[in-house]
Amino acid sequence: MASLTIRKLDEAIKVYLRLRSAKNGRSVEEEVRVILGEIMQGRPFEFATTPSQRSPSPADELSRAPGRAGALDQARVTLIIGGGIAAYKALDLVRRLKERNTRVRCVLTRAAQQFVTPLSASALAHERVYTDLFDPESEFDAGHIRLARDCDLIVVAPATADLMAKMANGHADDLASAILLATNRPILLAPAMNPLMWNNAATRRNVAQLQRDGTVMIGPNAGEMAEAGEAGVGRMAEPLEIAAAAERLLRPPRPRPLKGKRVLITAGPTHEPIDPVRYIANRSSGKQGFAIAAAAQAAGADVTLVSGPVDLDDPPDVTVKHVESARDMLRQVEAALPADIAIFAAAVADWRVATEGEQKLKKTAAGMPPLQLVENPDILATISKLKDQRPPLVIGFAAETEHLIDNAKAKFARKGCDWIVANDVSPATGVMGGDRNTVHLLTRDGAEIHVDSWPVMTKEEVATALVARIAETIGKAS
Ligand code: C5P
Repeated sequence: MASLTIRKLDEAIKVYLRLRSAKNGRSVEEEVRVILGEIMQGRPFEFATTPSQRSPSPADELSRAPGRAGALDQARVTLIIGGGIAAYKALDLVRRLKERNTRVRCVLTRAAQQFVTPLSASALAHERVYTDLFDPESEFDAGHIRLARDCDLIVVAPATADLMAKMANGHADDLASAILLATNRPILLAPAMNPLMWNNAATRRNVAQLQRDGTVMIGPNAGEMAEAGEAGVGRMAEPLEIAAAAERLLRPPRPRPLKGKRVLITAGPTHEPIDPVRYIANRSSGKQGFAIAAAAQAAGADVTLVSGPVDLDDPPDVTVKHVESARDMLRQVEAALPADIAIFAAAVADWRVATEGEQKLKKTAAGMPPLQLVENPDILATISKLKDQRPPLVIGFAAETEHLIDNAKAKFARKGCDWIVANDVSPATGVMGGDRNTVHLLTRDGAEIHVDSWPVMTKEEVATALVARIAETIGKAS
């Protein structure tokens, strides 16, 4: 039977395998076995090398994971390479960090340069490397302060006993220790030293001090030492482990409290045709509903947004159904059921023209054409009163220009929903079409109605707060 050497595979396949195996906590060989097993079971597997061709790989997922560095943002790491035999592994770490959409600036201590050269580090990082506190070229603008602050994370690998002792005691007599003293960014240490040095009382004190100071450590691991015949705790963590720890600090996983929940949202105005060229509309921009859809999606929900005509981009990873009239909107809402949560933020036209003109209405000597209006279906009320498919949480909006709270309270009885988000849309507020909103959340506890008045916020902030409140309520109920 032929054998497969992973080392000889294409670079792109190796990168993919490395990332996938690291993500799943398996060795690369085990990961290959899992992939082959999945293919044998008929599960589809897709792999292509250009991002546009393929479904999200672990690399995409990693770079998309939100957090300190932001969704797709490039994170910035200052990597301090200390002087130990493990320094050669720091070069691999540069590659692992760069694979994760991270810009890496390397600082080499004097001792590190005994093990690896600045040239190899700069070739892998594609950046100049920093070695000297008194380098006139980088220090003309206090370069050590820039290296300390102009990054999202400082990684020290290998963190030698000496470097950790300096850090614990606040020394700053070379570039690496000056950066570590001057930074206000999180620090990740990957200690590496002989087991006797690691267990030495001085190192124990320094480690305890550094942990109290808030530095994060990865490793050291147990295993063979470079020194022949020696083993114990002191080996530097593997580059993939360090890169994964860096990733957790740079892009901590976002909580997804609505994971597995189906959320249905209506947004925007409706257009009710008068004739082939004219329609009845309103000034709703759809911004609030779209922001809620994006916030629910970010919270992990499976979101369907039914939108009237708006001038907004579809929120990413949301199923959007574009409609014109109230009747179209109701059809799409019903088609999107069942849902766990339904939020009706659309400004649906209350009336439509009874008979839509087949041709453009003409001016006549008899005066204005009579426009007879009939009532549109009330989507919120229809869904709230469903017997079988009523979503467990139905939220309506009350856009009012006067007697805001009283009108909103009256809506509970009329509509049968569970919560109402009331907002004042009188022209002076600038809410219709604007970016801010001042809302009051009305909830029911039996016959009692609670009113929570929120401060003025952007529509995105209102959306985030509403989704947080929904998540809290759903969390309590389940
Ligand atoms: O009756 P009013 O338009 O003030 O009610 C506002 C609430 O009812 C909003 O949640 C709106 O989306 C919803 N609504 C609806 N269908 C209508 C009218 C309003 O879903 N025809």
